Amino acid sequence: MRLSLRRSLRLVLVTTMLVFIMLNLHVLYNTPAATAASDKKSLVSLSGNHGLDVHVQHSVKMVPSTQRLSVLIAPKVNNATAGRGNSSVPAKGRYHRNIPTNDSEALKLEVARINSEQYVHNLDRYGLSLGTGSLVIVIQTHDRPEYLKILLDSLRKVQDIERSLLVISHDVYSHQLNEIVETVDFCPVMQIFFPYSQQMYAHEFPGEHPNDCPRNVKKAEALLKKCNNAEHPDKYGHYREAKYCQAKHHWIWKLQHVFEGINLLRDYEGEVMLLEDDYYLSEDIIFSTHMLRGLKERECPDCRMLVLGNYDKNQNYAINGAKVERAYWISSKHNMGMTFNRSVWQDIKTCANEFCSFDDYNWDWTLQHLSMKCIPNKVRLLVMKASRIFHVGECGMHKKSKNCDPKAKVRQVETKLAENHKHLYPNMVSVAGDSRLKLRDPKPNGGWGDLRDHNLCRKYFNLTAAVR
Ligand SMILES: *[C@@H]1O[C@H](CO)[C@@H](O)[C@H](O)[C@H]1NC(C)=O
Ligand SMILES: *[C@@H]1O[C@H](CO)[C@@H](O)[C@H](O)[C@H]1NC(C)=O
Ligand SMILES: *[C@@H]1O[C@H](CO)[C@@H](O)[C@H](O)[C@H]1NC(C)=O
Ligand SMILES: *[C@@H]1O[C@H](CO)[C@@H](O)[C@H](O)[C@H]1NC(C)=O
Ligand SMILES: *[C@@H]1O[C@H](CO)[C@@H](O)[C@H](O)[C@H]1NC(C)=O
Repeated sequence: MRLSLRRSLRLVLVTTMLVFIMLNLHVLYNTPAATAASDKKSLVSLSGNHGLDVHVQHSVKMVPSTQRLSVLIAPKVNNATAGRGNSSVPAKGRYHRNIPTNDSEALKLEVARINSEQYVHNLDRYGLSLGTGSLVIVIQTHDRPEYLKILLDSLRKVQDIERSLLVISHDVYSHQLNEIVETVDFCPVMQIFFPYSQQMYAHEFPGEHPNDCPRNVKKAEALLKKCNNAEHPDKYGHYREAKYCQAKHHWIWKLQHVFEGINLLRDYEGEVMLLEDDYYLSEDIIFSTHMLRGLKERECPDCRMLVLGNYDKNQNYAINGAKVERAYWISSKHNMGMTFNRSVWQDIKTCANEFCSFDDYNWDWTLQHLSMKCIPNKVRLLVMKASRIFHVGECGMHKKSKNCDPKAKVRQVETKLAENHKHLYPNMVSVAGDSRLKLRDPKPNGGWGDLRDHNLCRKYFNLTAAVR
């Protein structure tokens, strides 16, 4: 009797110790915010799938045997003899003439030519192999060469970048920007040009026409003046401002072009990552994307998107480097480094009319509206808790303030990443809870009331129908 009592005491002691260890593990792998349910899941995945994960995730360098390839182009030049930027064709001769950027007719022709020729730089050197496990990186850029240069410098250091296809989508044709793109010698890269830019349509729609109604004119007055689009101010009574409409046009045109216009990507089923020109990337961003993809299959099969960046002021890599949050898409939180495949494009296409007529000039608010009101079951996603992307252009396009030195910001980010290098390349990522942010259908900000914008936007989707 005594003996058995002692034995059960010992059992209790051992159990307590085990529980204590489990709790410590829990602290290590989950944030305090994590819900009980997700804790359990993360622990299960920890013990259950660990070995398999590591194996799968570390095979990033090799082509996984399950991958279906849609493009396979072998490199032409020997790695050893190809010097940096030493392509077999001289850079200048490769594709663009030095046309004057004030000649809009010449620009239209040149851009049409580039968009149809679809030249890929550095193909000789790296070849191209695209499949279900690949990543195509798309950068939307405006006219900020100093930022584009920063982003490309960070991309150069990204592990496995040479296996991606980089697509740079411009809405300004400039020799300076072209020259910056020509410095890319670390991966295959293609330039595409938004063909309805204000640069090319400076005095006509989608640029500003001399007879466009001024923003603040009253509708009655506008009708008397018979200015363009007098009938259709936005929901706040304001008329169109061309410079604010371009980014949404460019964004949706670019998606259409990437998924349906670029011949190399016709049958591409892998992922596409969307970036903007004022980002700085962590060198493990591609690695992390592959990790997230594996996690999505196990922990969130209904997630449609992976998001590599967040805007949190304090980034703690020691605690959050391998942690992921599950959430529904919110424009202000999840618009940095969105990564998804053709199926999300199909979802957006199904909602083309909603996208084109929602009275908001921001593509991301528009997308949130689609997620809430049009795309079935909303857009669910996994987002890195420790950001792999930093927004260095925080001062915005129009403000030029003294405390907004991108170089200083970059130095700060580089220091942070260097200090945390040992927490990058996590060999295991886990879901540390679900976002509890309240979801709502966003109230439109206006700026997108002009029927000409709606129609041009619809035209991108219809171009598709004509081409296919
Ligand atoms: C190509 O060259 C780089 C360095 O220039 C080297 O790191 C890499 O291993 C080489 N790749 C092959 C396939 O030889
Ligand atoms: C670049 O290519 C030329 C020949 O096309 C060769 O003579 C030269 O050595 C190469 N430069 C480097 C740095 O490999
Ligand atoms: C473009 O600018 C140059 C001078 O910078 C001028 O000579 C030329 O006429 C301009 N062309 C057009 C089409 O405006
Ligand atoms: C594309 O993503 C969806 C989830 O949004 C997934 O169900 C589908 O399997 C993915 N397609 C491929 C080819 O991986
Ligand atoms: C596409 O074009 C056809 C006619 O050419 C038109 O009936 C249809 O409404 C258009 N679709 C969209 C989404 O604008």
